[in-house]
Amino acid sequence: MDPIPYGRQHITEEDIKEVVKALNADYLTQGPRIDEFEEAFASYIGSKHAVAVSNGTAALHLCALSLNVQEGDKVITTPITFAASANCVRYCGGEVVFADIDPDTYLLDIENVRGLLKSSPKGTYKGLIPVDFAGRAVDLEAFRDLADKHDLWIIEDSCHSPGGYFTDSSGTDQNCGNGKFADLAIFSFHPVKHIASGEGGMITTNDKELYEKLLKLRTHGITKNESEYENSLDFAVGSTQNLSAEEVDSKLKTQSYPNWYMEMQELGYNYRITDFQCALGNSQLKRANEGIERRREIAKNYYEAFKDKEFIKGQSGSLDGHAYHLYVIEVEERLGLYNYLRKQNIYAQIHYIPCHLMPYYRQFGWEEGDMPHAENYYKHCISLPMFPTLHAKEQDFVIDRIHEYYESN
Ligand SMILES: Cc1ncc(COP(=O)(O)O)c(C=O)c1O
Repeated sequence: MDPIPYGRQHITEEDIKEVVKALNADYLTQGPRIDEFEEAFASYIGSKHAVAVSNGTAALHLCALSLNVQEGDKVITTPITFAASANCVRYCGGEVVFADIDPDTYLLDIENVRGLLKSSPKGTYKGLIPVDFAGRAVDLEAFRDLADKHDLWIIEDSCHSPGGYFTDSSGTDQNCGNGKFADLAIFSFHPVKHIASGEGGMITTNDKELYEKLLKLRTHGITKNESEYENSLDFAVGSTQNLSAEEVDSKLKTQSYPNWYMEMQELGYNYRITDFQCALGNSQLKRANEGIERRREIAKNYYEAFKDKEFIKGQSGSLDGHAYHLYVIEVEERLGLYNYLRKQNIYAQIHYIPCHLMPYYRQFGWEEGDMPHAENYYKHCISLPMFPTLHAKEQDFVIDRIHEYYESN
């Protein structure tokens, strides 16, 4: 059997054609495909606005900046996530406060968050960053309700869940990142994600003001919108020293800001994505629903194969709104299974080492025992191969090897 990774991108001839078309066009970056990708993505997710950026981490950083995270601001997130979900707070000098996961869903436990909020004076915390870990959607209706009571903003880290949804209290399915509950949501287009553009990211929101702020911050804090200019037209036009006072006066009355003019109004970054990456993202987006369907089929097969096995201590299950970026099982003897699978060319992976126990975060006082559910989850979790082009034969091979390992141990 050829090596089977835990995740793999899928590039079609159509994808390649679209990228080549972009490479042969006028713009490598800042071209029309960026707007197209943003519009198509917003429509797929159901949000009003979308801002494409260079990667998911940049998306998180821009969210924290646009929400004005400041030195010492406390923000709550989950320890079972990729470090970037927490790091964006640190980029702005804020303090990351981890809250434990629910051991059944592996998501940030709202009761732990509620406990933290109740035990501190109002205003202690500024925001929440729940993560749709593995593709399972957080119940954002409940988080919004809690956030409103404590004046908090929400950034939904939806990197694992484009196409995922939760069902709200009225029975309506709410897409991850649709902007109805979270102030901002972010996505990543890294190769193992549902939609790949090489590197790439997206922010979605329904908030026009935040949207406009993000556009500016994405490109150095620069605006080319004349109605926002702060410097005078006289200054923008430049030298008028050879003109009489009347001539200057009439010139300024009739002239608008010259084409070259722009203003850097705040400290932004270059977090732009290229046109050819958006060509790939757009082409992949067209197949996104197919990919999710296949991921759900694969999840169902794993679930059926393991549901009655006593060596399985927990698993992602077979759930309607789950986007199945990952399929996680929890087992005893995880290291033994991991090594056994590697010998068979099956490259399972571990998601995640609890973020609060990374040496960087330990320096802030986090230690073992702080997040018992996350730490226990880490001892047992293993992510099985999950990607739309995983063949039935390959999945059977993975399942058989896992059964074999536990039957012989
Ligand atoms: C949950 C989560 N958040 C954020 C990121 C960061 O995305 P990127 O790798 O595109 O910077 C990732 C990517 O691995 C992720 O899995």
